[in-house]
Amino acid sequence: MATSIQKAKRLLTKMTLDEKIGQMVQFGRIKLNEKNLVREGKIGSFLNSRNVALVNEVQRIAMEQSRLKIPLLIGSDIIHGYVSTFPIPVAEACSWNLDLIESSAKHAMTEAAADGIRWNFAPMVDIARDPRWGRIAEGAGEDPYLGAQIAKARVRGFQAKGKNGYPLAAACAKHFVAYGGAEGGRDYNTVDMSEHVLRTTYLPPFKAAVDEGVMSFMSSFNDILSVPSSANDFSLRQVLKGEWRFDGFVVSDWESIEEVIAHGIADDRTSSALAGLKSGVDMDMHSGVYHDHLKELVIKDKKLELLIDDSVLRILKIKYDLGLFEHPYTDPNLRDEVILNKETVEMTLKMARESIVLLKNEALLPLSKEQKIALIGPFGDDPHTPIGCWGAEGNHKNTVTVKMAFENAGLDFVIAQGCDSIDPKVEWIQEAVDLASHQDIIILTLGERQDMSGENNNRAFLDLPGAQLELLRALKKLNKPIITLLFNGRPMTIPETVEKSDALLAVWHLGLSSGTAITEILFGDVNPSGKLVTTFPKTVGQIPLYYNHKRTGRPKFRRYIDCDEEPLFHFGFGLSYSNFIYDKLIMKKSRLGKKDKLEFTIDVYNDSDIDGQEIVQVYYRDLLAQVTRPVKELCAFEKANFKAHQLKTLSFSIPISQFGYYDPEMNFIIEKGNFALWVGPSSIEGIASEFTIR
Ligand code: GLC
Repeated sequence: MATSIQKAKRLLTKMTLDEKIGQMVQFGRIKLNEKNLVREGKIGSFLNSRNVALVNEVQRIAMEQSRLKIPLLIGSDIIHGYVSTFPIPVAEACSWNLDLIESSAKHAMTEAAADGIRWNFAPMVDIARDPRWGRIAEGAGEDPYLGAQIAKARVRGFQAKGKNGYPLAAACAKHFVAYGGAEGGRDYNTVDMSEHVLRTTYLPPFKAAVDEGVMSFMSSFNDILSVPSSANDFSLRQVLKGEWRFDGFVVSDWESIEEVIAHGIADDRTSSALAGLKSGVDMDMHSGVYHDHLKELVIKDKKLELLIDDSVLRILKIKYDLGLFEHPYTDPNLRDEVILNKETVEMTLKMARESIVLLKNEALLPLSKEQKIALIGPFGDDPHTPIGCWGAEGNHKNTVTVKMAFENAGLDFVIAQGCDSIDPKVEWIQEAVDLASHQDIIILTLGERQDMSGENNNRAFLDLPGAQLELLRALKKLNKPIITLLFNGRPMTIPETVEKSDALLAVWHLGLSSGTAITEILFGDVNPSGKLVTTFPKTVGQIPLYYNHKRTGRPKFRRYIDCDEEPLFHFGFGLSYSNFIYDKLIMKKSRLGKKDKLEFTIDVYNDSDIDGQEIVQVYYRDLLAQVTRPVKELCAFEKANFKAHQLKTLSFSIPISQFGYYDPEMNFIIEKGNFALWVGPSSIEGIASEFTIR
């Protein structure tokens, strides 16, 4: 049986230059005036066409009317659900539940594949340390190790086998690379960092995606090491295709090949096409520079056809791997079976439950259902915001709001918006205060509207928008318990909200089952288990502020005369209704060879009357190295389930290779020396130990 690459090589020998270039061309939503281009084999892919009849129609042209009958590859952004919306990715990451995250991705892709989408521009695996950047919502936070595990889980989910035995879709690790390092958190801005930081912090989740078999990559808008990613030989050919031996293909981000002109690296579209081709971008998303100029470039320099052959082979291999030649069409009846089906909707609820992070609880939660509630704030009855950024085909009509969930639960409550989510001049604060004055408790919905995060939705201030803080201050004067639900797309600087709330939950933009999951947690039907994957700063002036910062020469010195450097909430932090006690960290061996594993056990006891889940985290510090190493780094974790009053002994086994680092000459080394170890509930507390690599 010929392999995909063998079939691709055989097909390549039959292809004209026009047909080869056609495979490297992707245009936007299918416009049927491009039928001729499909017929002539001059387009290989479309993006964002989410209509199975249209996809089948244009696929039929390719399969029946073109000369070589090469199937089209239809791509789209299924970032956190297709029609059934899941929590935004950064919220899902707060579950630290890799199986659930994988299942969320698989369910989302199953729905999208029913519309003929067989390539997903996800997972977004950009490490993000700057919450001003709107796209922090789309990833898995600030830690390379956790980001790598979640990248693998999402690749597994998106590329899970479908009914025909082929992967549901090709996943796409994006945005390669270091897009999250944009200066000032301003999207598309300059990214300037050392190769050492690049390799230590930003590359690991992408390498993990390659190790998990991701079928495509997307080059990013930004420059890296002063060269735009979509013309960057170092990142694409030296690292990705060279060191990592990646055998899938690279698509540019939207028109980012042509944008190297704006970067000042090329002076016209022809030279931008040449820059993209030479650097290893295999497919041009939407700009048309490959469609318009590759042929003339080959006519001038025949050798370039070898680069084109490599790109086309990569693309064809993936199309064979997806089974598109055998199964180019999608059964239009499939969508009735899979879209918004019971199992998928239930999965959105399971994911939402574990994405919520309890940040404060002054012995108030869980609530009893007999209390008279005032549901106040702009998001209690807002079906749009829970869909979040990149909502794909998510429809607000499907959202269960907090109001709806309260009604479904038969709760005794009144509701008032109190203020607009954004416009400070639009508020009904007094009306809300009057209404709340007759109730026992206040449940306050504050935060960011759906369109305040995601692509190019960056913020210079991370406070509560509009008159939300004034609303909280006014309600506080009633001296009633206040439970604040934060509908956030990113970490927010809300110290006064924390101080004035008796309980606070980060509920993010939680998707279709938002209200149900929130209500289950408020009333104790579900015990919250989420933990933060991004540091929450107290103020924007502290940014960048992340837990795994490097060691410095004067760690005890103050950093600002007007603020300390403590965050509002730390990476890995999250409360539970249970109380987990850590004890007995027992190292199997403390002196280890380079081929050993670091093995230890930890006792964790659920000192409460309710079942719960705990995310046990393992951090280490390299005490002596040739470069400045982080003060602390996550190296393992386990999310464990506990019955009430249950004691568990958890075992960890970590390969010593995981404690290696890049030396000043960029060699990855595993060095002898001493290491500190912490095991605990977050990045700021735990039982300490140590070990030595000899
Ligand atoms: C956008 C985004 C990218 C997305 C692509 C296609 O500009 O940067 O993440 O996959 O275009 O929609």
